Amino acid sequence: MRSPKDFFSPLALGAPEPLREIPFRPSRMIHFFDPSNEKMRSKIDTIAPKVDVLLGNLEDAVAADNKDAARAGLVEVGKAWSTSETQLWTRVNSLDSPWFLDDVMTLVSEIGENLDVIMVPKVEGPEDIHYVDQLLAQLEARAGLAEPILVHAILETAQGVANVESICGASPRMQGLSLGPADLAADRRMKTTRVGGGHPGYLVRQDPEEGANDEARATYQQDLWHYTLARMVDACGAHGILPFYGPFGDIADTVACEDQFRNAYLLGCVGAWSLHPVQIDIAKKVFSPEPSEVAWAMRVIDEMGDGTGAVMIDGKMQDDATVKQCHVVVNLARELAAKDPDLASEYGF
Ligand code: GLV
Ligand code: MG
Repeated sequence: MRSPKDFFSPLALGAPEPLREIPFRPSRMIHFFDPSNEKMRSKIDTIAPKVDVLLGNLEDAVAADNKDAARAGLVEVGKAWSTSETQLWTRVNSLDSPWFLDDVMTLVSEIGENLDVIMVPKVEGPEDIHYVDQLLAQLEARAGLAEPILVHAILETAQGVANVESICGASPRMQGLSLGPADLAADRRMKTTRVGGGHPGYLVRQDPEEGANDEARATYQQDLWHYTLARMVDACGAHGILPFYGPFGDIADTVACEDQFRNAYLLGCVGAWSLHPVQIDIAKKVFSPEPSEVAWAMRVIDEMGDGTGAVMIDGKMQDDATVKQCHVVVNLARELAAKDPDLASEYGF
């Protein structure tokens, strides 16, 4: 392990200084597109202003014969990029693939100044991040970049979950984590065949009542992802980086998608992936605090004065800890409103 004294030193001569804090930028949805698809590329100018993060996907869902075309397509998009309000990210191929090295070398040298974050799939432990960290520093130095490119890891192997805290703390470049429920399910040998979301078989059943038959016993579907999501949120919080729910594959089931996203929001996530334009608005709605919640939070902050002591508001006890929660909601609302004038007026800012 590197000495804490050296943690914030550049890893290559001429590489930019690592950041001491991960900047919070609105990231309610990470919208995936396939850069090998010319039709999708032609829609970038319309879609980019509607999303917080646009991500050129080079990994799964891009066929092996299309990997080179996807990389080249993303270079084309990155060179023309001028949408400063929207972040441009990529998901590169995994470290053990034949494409990773070309992905990173090409993207950093060709479009490094416009690329905010590189998402690295199937991260197993801090050693994966150390490798990416050093390589990026070398490439940034060679490209003469002024700002470091940040790294986002997907939590999608059992090993990765076991090492989640050390992955988060492996480099000052670590910007956040996403849950990868599809690969994680396969790696753990879960018996699901879907991308994220619940499963009707994962349930608890009401206790039996004397004389009543089993059909009368209510069942309650449980959240398959609660444990992992909660671990991920804590690991990210402990390291000052940002947690995201990942993909929800049943595009037609917008209701369940909204529920899954909301669970993640309430638990502490800042955003989720959108795999289809219908999921953009779901993420925008869910990951922006409700105007009524913001109004309530502002009232609590106001009535609590200097924030100490306790007061009753509408029969609910407020103290230092509820004020802190209210500040989380109001700060998020202000950060989002700064980007989104419609939200600003809904919040009355
Ligand atoms: C995402 O990459 C997943 O595997 O769910
Ligand atoms: Mg995956």
